[in-house]
Amino acid sequence: MRILAIETSCDDTCISILKAKGSKVEIESNIVSSQVKAHQKWGGVYPSLAKREHQKNLVPVLSRALREAGLLKIQNSKKGSLLNLKTSKDLEEREPLLLKKLSSFLKKYKKPKIDLIAVTAGPGLEPCLWIGINFAKALGDVWQIQVAPINHIEAHIFANLLSQINSKPLCQNLFPALSLIVSGGHTQLILIKELGKYGILGETRDDAAGECLDKIARVMGLGYPGGPKIAKESGKYKGESKYKIELPRPMIHQKNYDFSFSGLKTAVLYDFKKRPLKERASKEYIQEMSYNTQQAIIDVLILKTLKAAKDFKVKTIMIGGGVAANKELRKRFKQKIKEEVPKVKYLVPEIKRCTDNAAMVAITAYSHWLEGDIKSKNIKANSNYKL
Ligand code: KG4
Ligand code: ZN
Repeated sequence: MRILAIETSCDDTCISILKAKGSKVEIESNIVSSQVKAHQKWGGVYPSLAKREHQKNLVPVLSRALREAGLLKIQNSKKGSLLNLKTSKDLEEREPLLLKKLSSFLKKYKKPKIDLIAVTAGPGLEPCLWIGINFAKALGDVWQIQVAPINHIEAHIFANLLSQINSKPLCQNLFPALSLIVSGGHTQLILIKELGKYGILGETRDDAAGECLDKIARVMGLGYPGGPKIAKESGKYKGESKYKIELPRPMIHQKNYDFSFSGLKTAVLYDFKKRPLKERASKEYIQEMSYNTQQAIIDVLILKTLKAAKDFKVKTIMIGGGVAANKELRKRFKQKIKEEVPKVKYLVPEIKRCTDNAAMVAITAYSHWLEGDIKSKNIKANSNYKL
């Protein structure tokens, strides 16, 4: 079977095509159209701008994804596929920019060999989620293909299965597992008893780890997104503590599995403001502060995750979300797991599959499809969609 997956929950327009037979899975295409440039001048994601960018990008991204998968075929008949009147009206009301592009695409190209369309329904930015859902529904309607709503957090978890592709069966001996999801919108520790059975052990009480990195980068004038910028500056730090920076590790010794990062951001802001202008603008200060910020976040994430892994005697630790693209975090996790819980398996998605993408949505849909557990009725955007 083939799945076409759509992800527009935040600022990336993503479409992927997955082909699967039993435990044999292949990602035929995985296109991510980043809006970073459009959002850079705002220092963060601006929802109505993100929605407009998705409207512009979805059809070109769909064409690229189908072409890469060898599924973009020109229509022979002059008429082509047409949206029905109701879908056209709905799109005209909600996504007028998209309607024009989609109509000409449908007239030009044949229905591709797709068996299921998957779309992120939440959590995320509501206007962005809606555009992906309306697009998926319109395609489902013209091509007469079932549409499956997918949870974005579950998709970040399942991105780990993409690294297990073609091991038989897909999830052999992984559970119970612990998943740490760290992104711009979420920081959660999730216990996975078995595939599809989740318990949230802890989460952030204020800012997400990625959000904290983004805000700190903004304080230092490094730009958006902050995580990669801070990682780059941190990598240049030579290890000499010239500025004697000391940052807190919020909640690190508390017995629960919750996190808090807003105090860390305040501590950075406080240190930054007390420095003379020349000092805080210096390369050395930015590098030392970036290093300290990254270490503080990594220390908390690793300590809490390992504590939960021991308490719940899990077989696997899997991480995911944009912050899991951080090389230092990946390396330190590997070391610590080896030292403290050597029998636990460590899974981490490829870097490009940590940040938002639609391949993770496709593999999640495939897993639900295998379980016979797809609910297509009444799909709505749900910015707080719980696992
Ligand atoms: O998962 P994601 O792409 O979108 C959300 O669902 O939020 O995560 C985006 C977050 C941003 O906060 C970004 O700064 C952070 O992931 N990020 C990183 C890295 N790459 C992206 N943080 C640390 N190191 C990175 N290499
Ligand atoms: Zn995400």
